[in-house]
Amino acid sequence: MAKLRRLRASIARVNTTSDQPAVRMSGLRLERGGRVVLRDIELAVPRGSVTAVLGPSGSGKSTLLAALTGELVPAAGQVEVFGEQVPRAQKPLLAMRKRVGVLLQGNGLLTDLTAAENVALPLRTHTDLPDAVIRRLVDMKLHAVGLRAAADLFPRELSGGMARRVALARALALDPPLMIYDEPLTGLDPIASGVVMSLVRRLNETLGLTSIVVTHHVHETMPVADHAIVIANGRIVFSGTPAELDATRDPLVRQFLEGQPDGPIPFDTTARAPEAA
Ligand SMILES: Nc1ncnc2c1ncn2[C@@H]1O[C@H](COP(=O)(O)OP(=O)(O)OP(=O)(O)O)[C@@H](O)[C@H]1O
Ligand SMILES: [Mg+2]
Repeated sequence: MAKLRRLRASIARVNTTSDQPAVRMSGLRLERGGRVVLRDIELAVPRGSVTAVLGPSGSGKSTLLAALTGELVPAAGQVEVFGEQVPRAQKPLLAMRKRVGVLLQGNGLLTDLTAAENVALPLRTHTDLPDAVIRRLVDMKLHAVGLRAAADLFPRELSGGMARRVALARALALDPPLMIYDEPLTGLDPIASGVVMSLVRRLNETLGLTSIVVTHHVHETMPVADHAIVIANGRIVFSGTPAELDATRDPLVRQFLEGQPDGPIPFDTTARAPEAA
């Protein structure tokens, strides 16, 4: 009986932790070069979801991700990843980063390494696994992005879409439970964009990940997203499902969605800076 109670208690504990969002930001204010880029940020990213972070160029999307990876220390407020505050000290920060796969703006592939060697890099840097195991893991990651046959090609021999998928395989190398993508569609045609976005969704399902996709490619991203937030004028101006985003009448959000140059989002964001700071 006591055993059963203990079992129930431990199941309850597991459930509470898994109910916890993958990422939580509260009262967050982020500054760059003494200027407030984002303020009053409240965000909870549910585990297992694909969340799109949308907003015009320069609105602070990459800045938000920088706070998540601990590259930028918040001016105020909190950022938690899997229930733990993003550490500031180097050692725990590096440990946390291993649990966050990042596909940065641009692929960042090393040009003098093959696709397979690029994917192997995080494994060689962060683990002391034997070579044969690393080769096997690399093979699995390339397989996950449909590029096993491209293992021995150099980045210059890959198309833009293929290179993006190799970078994705590399970001997955250490099996991170959280993936963040910064503009994964830049420079890709509609077909390659569709391939990359459906891959993002599929990997999220099959590997049980949580994904955050930063992009201004609304139409390509919405079909695979569970949740969308829009940032503009230094704050979150929308948070909801893709259907709610589609239906919103908010002029700020509509201006962004419809790509109109005139409206509540100023063209020259720096003009607003002194008042914002
Ligand atoms: N390292 C930095 N130092 C100073 N200012 C910065 C730095 N990085 C970004 N900024 C400023 O912060 C603001 C937000 O930039 P950020 O790169 O987050 O925008 P973004 O939404 O990612 O834009 P894009 O869609 O063009 O990538 C901009 O005004 C930018 O000039
Ligand atoms: Mg950016």
